[in-house]
Amino acid sequence: MKLLEPFIIKDLTIKNRIVMAPMCMYVASTEGDVQPFHLVHYPTRGFGGVGLVITEATAVESRGRISSHDLGIWNDSHIEGLKKLVQSVHQSGALIGIQLAHAGRKCKAENETIIAPSSLGFSQDYQTPKEMSLEDIKVVINAFKNGARRAKFAGYDIIEIHGAHGYLINQFLSPLSNQRNDQYGGNAVNRRRFLSEVIEAVRSEWNGPLILRLSAEEYAINGNHIEDTIELVKSLNHQVDAINVSSGGVVPVKFDVYPGYQMEYAKRIKALGYIVIGGGLITTDVECEKYLDNGSVDAIFLGRKLLNDPYFVLHTAAKNNRKDLVIQPYERGF
Ligand SMILES: Cc1cc2nc3c(=O)[nH]c(=O)nc-3n(C[C@H](O)[C@H](O)[C@H](O)COP(=O)(O)O)c2cc1C
Repeated sequence: MKLLEPFIIKDLTIKNRIVMAPMCMYVASTEGDVQPFHLVHYPTRGFGGVGLVITEATAVESRGRISSHDLGIWNDSHIEGLKKLVQSVHQSGALIGIQLAHAGRKCKAENETIIAPSSLGFSQDYQTPKEMSLEDIKVVINAFKNGARRAKFAGYDIIEIHGAHGYLINQFLSPLSNQRNDQYGGNAVNRRRFLSEVIEAVRSEWNGPLILRLSAEEYAINGNHIEDTIELVKSLNHQVDAINVSSGGVVPVKFDVYPGYQMEYAKRIKALGYIVIGGGLITTDVECEKYLDNGSVDAIFLGRKLLNDPYFVLHTAAKNNRKDLVIQPYERGF
């Protein structure tokens, strides 16, 4: 089956098409350091056969955390723990990507002054952010650059830039959260400038495979829709190697979710000539195969399914007459 065949991002071959979706575990120390939990949790999915593990949103600034217990990469002191995490996943047989992130106005970490493109709170449950000055913008772009440098040093195979779910980059992209009237706002080209400068900064330190995660649809009348995202992706000119297609999170609105609800967006982005990772509420190998077969995606991300069943890939391999993919120490279990 296609799901168990390799795919390539840039020059990196990933042994199958199952990608662990980035998922905050909220168990890092208040300084953002890796804990023993991470050194078991992530390699467990690797031993379970996942081709690529993308670890949780990792903050490039302490005020860029979602919570006080996010992983961090804002300081050289984080490198040692991240290096151990990388080694632990490598020895489990998987490749590992880091998701570089900044929460902007969705930061709920304690004792932080929060920032965003405009001084508009996400909801009543969040602080009202300070509007970023041009100097703040430079500082944050530099933090992404330093994050990439540290990720390289720690040995990651892939970097993913978190441009989705209403976090800082998405806040710049969306007219709902960006009401600036300088070169970073006012029209779509200006709203993309921050992302474009972040990519450039990351690229100045990293020439390995680079993924961008986007919210392809914001589910709000005056927000970005899939057509806007298509224009955005066209404007990237392949500065990134793959797009991880997600949706929502910019404003607190309800929308319909069902297995594969984001796949139509993924398919339209894939048609632009990008390697695409897609998913959302996918729980079976049959669904995965359907979206690979119909050309919606190159690989499937699984989030909650892998929390429920870290051995999903091994179960799938055994069920589909590919017991050869089960690692030797586990053979007698399958
Ligand atoms: C516990 C949890 C934490 C998450 N944290 C992140 C994150 O750090 N970064 C991110 O881009 N998405 C995050 N997500 C979204 C997932 O990556 C994924 O897109 C979403 O769960 C839908 O996929 P699923 O239905 O297979 O779980 C999180 C989801 C869950 C359930």
